[in-house]
Amino acid sequence: MKVSVSLSLAEAPPNGALSCVVAIDVLRASTSIVTAFRNGCLEVVPVATLDDAWRVAASRPDALLCGERMGKRVDGFDLGNSPLEYSPEVVSGRTLIMSTTNGTVLLRKYDEFERVVGCFANLHSLVQWLLEHYKGCDVHLACAGKLERPGLEDIACAGAIVAMLRRSQESVECDDGALVALSVWEHLDEDPAKAVFSSSHGEYLCSIGHKDDLKYCSVIGEGPVPCIPVGTTAIRGAGGDVN
Ligand code: MLT
Repeated sequence: MKVSVSLSLAEAPPNGALSCVVAIDVLRASTSIVTAFRNGCLEVVPVATLDDAWRVAASRPDALLCGERMGKRVDGFDLGNSPLEYSPEVVSGRTLIMSTTNGTVLLRKYDEFERVVGCFANLHSLVQWLLEHYKGCDVHLACAGKLERPGLEDIACAGAIVAMLRRSQESVECDDGALVALSVWEHLDEDPAKAVFSSSHGEYLCSIGHKDDLKYCSVIGEGPVPCIPVGTTAIRGAGGDVN
């Protein structure tokens, strides 16, 4: 498997065909989407802009409108972007239309590729998924970061994925971005909480009252692996363990 990593949204996609893009936004879009599927949501429609969110919502009155700007729920939306809001009581059986500052923009940036959503909450099942479905393929780990700048928590998560792939039976060829991510993960003693709590976005979220989200987003788990097939714009199901 060839593994490449882009460290922020500003980076151009790598040249050549990619079999799969892993969209990583640990704080918090990826973790919220994984949580929503774990808790029984039917579908997530990621959109880049608020205008798109209102437009799609107008044709889907049954859907919940979700997301944030500056880390805060958008006025008139049903939910913000705290994974703790995506409980079974709220999301089970529902369609979610979601717009966040970086995470959903990242998902739409790679529309022409198959995408899966990655974070610490589904780290184990995600790596298993990649090993089962993309052996010998080109896999790109795309970090959302913040406003086109790198985010420590996303790079650390990419590094964790690279480390786990390299410990598997699969032979893994890394580009320089993947080697950078791996070094960051090792430098942090492979501790997700160190990355999440010392990141600038983590500090910002704490300052606006979301410290509990940081704790939740730091836990390595076996959450589901939400997938968006090539050329489609909605996540209609999740692989891996959905319980
Ligand atoms: C984003 O897409 O930028 C986020 O997930 C921000 C956040 O809600 O923490």
